[in-house]
Amino acid sequence: MDLDLVISGGTVATASDVFSCDIGIKDGIIVQLGHDLGPAKETIDATGHYVLPGGIDSHVHIAQPSGEGIVMADGFESGTRSALFGGNTTILPFCLQEKGQSLREALTGYHALAEGNCYTDISFHLIVSDPTAAVLGQELPALVADGYTSFKVFMTYEGLRLNDAEILATMDVARRTGALVMVHCENEDAIAYLIGRHEAEGEVRPRAHATTRPVAAEREATHRAMSLAEIVDVPVVIVHVSNGAAIEEIRRARARGRKVVSETCPQYLMLTAADLEGMDWEGAKFVCSPPPRDETEQEACWNGLEEGTFDLFSSDHCPFRYDDPEGKLNPKGAANFRHIPNGIPGVETRLPILFSEGVVKGRIDLSRFVALTATNQAKVYGLYPQKGTIAIGADADIAIWDPTAQRTIRHAELHDGADYSPYEGLAVTGWPTTVILGGKVMIREGALVGAKGDGAYRSRGLSSLIAARG
Ligand code: URP
Ligand code: ZN
Ligand code: ZN
Ligand code: ZN
Repeated sequence: MDLDLVISGGTVATASDVFSCDIGIKDGIIVQLGHDLGPAKETIDATGHYVLPGGIDSHVHIAQPSGEGIVMADGFESGTRSALFGGNTTILPFCLQEKGQSLREALTGYHALAEGNCYTDISFHLIVSDPTAAVLGQELPALVADGYTSFKVFMTYEGLRLNDAEILATMDVARRTGALVMVHCENEDAIAYLIGRHEAEGEVRPRAHATTRPVAAEREATHRAMSLAEIVDVPVVIVHVSNGAAIEEIRRARARGRKVVSETCPQYLMLTAADLEGMDWEGAKFVCSPPPRDETEQEACWNGLEEGTFDLFSSDHCPFRYDDPEGKLNPKGAANFRHIPNGIPGVETRLPILFSEGVVKGRIDLSRFVALTATNQAKVYGLYPQKGTIAIGADADIAIWDPTAQRTIRHAELHDGADYSPYEGLAVTGWPTTVILGGKVMIREGALVGAKGDGAYRSRGLSSLIAARG
């Protein structure tokens, strides 16, 4: 039995170990780890490179309509292609239930868009925006059984937000099914109050997006989300945490024995509210929620990554074009920050930024990098151990990294559908050069050789990190 592929000579890293080892792949699965492996149809020499589990990005928005009728800049083809070039082999986009729509209907639409178009594997989280009795009683439990094992609820965005009663009812579905609830924590009423005050003062520029969404609005909502989860007695995922006060709330909840999973994103390490103050509405490029904060909060987020509060480092890729009447500066957005669609692109730059700023600069080690970007992502969202690690029996989803590559982030060299990168000009060390999905080489030395449709939808099990945390 010849192996299909051997990756030789590289330094393999998992969430627990870093070791020199060759990897033997057959039928899309890792079947051998060791040295002097049997004959193979193809051998890739990874000498001088890191061999890592393919990145898993559990927080990605693709082809989601925004409330203002604005179209996202990425469909599944460009979104997964960009993810792949950034060293990812699986992404978890959201399926947004629109008001009045059943979740099945919504899923049918997203599956139709994704089918045959993906360069990475994908799986969907459900966004519950209309928790009717039928949705909570029948649809959601059936969908959890079908492998849609996580849903996101919003405490902000008029039209999308759930009230506390609805969040409790949705969490109760999780209690009954073992699914995981992700919460976007910001206090909508507080934000609406501040928006009113800013508008009364005539402040409608992008910078007001940051000042109308202060830390206190996130801290309060984070505390409330974890309290509601405590009352229902379910685990909860706090997504896109931006600041030290919210981190402290998470630590306190854990100290009370609560099962809380937490996530931060590149924007909270690399951007600040000052980026929203750019001339000529350039600040619109950095409008995302929660907003980027300041250097002190950046340090708090780094600390949360270093000492283990954060389980997940995800992109929250949410791409809108800037210089486009259907993008950030749509006619209404160019007149008032309230109408700038929220979200920034970043699925391709997530791993290089954390590698360069985190591993190369000595803030986290390589195993922690793998844990945050792949292994924990798989464990939290029910893909482990098939994905998220390099082990015998796991999917051969692998990113080979050149740890010395010097690159400057230029949107012109990225592969998403937006027309800018919030990290334009950032110099990074380290970049994935060859990416393998299910044993198939998709990117070889920086060149795309895989085809759209090579990635597939993957149904998921229940979260294993939650079970393990005890
Ligand atoms: O501003 C953001 N993050 N937009 C994406 C939607 C969300 O809240 O995750
Ligand atoms: Zn060897
Ligand atoms: Zn969110
Ligand atoms: Zn998001």
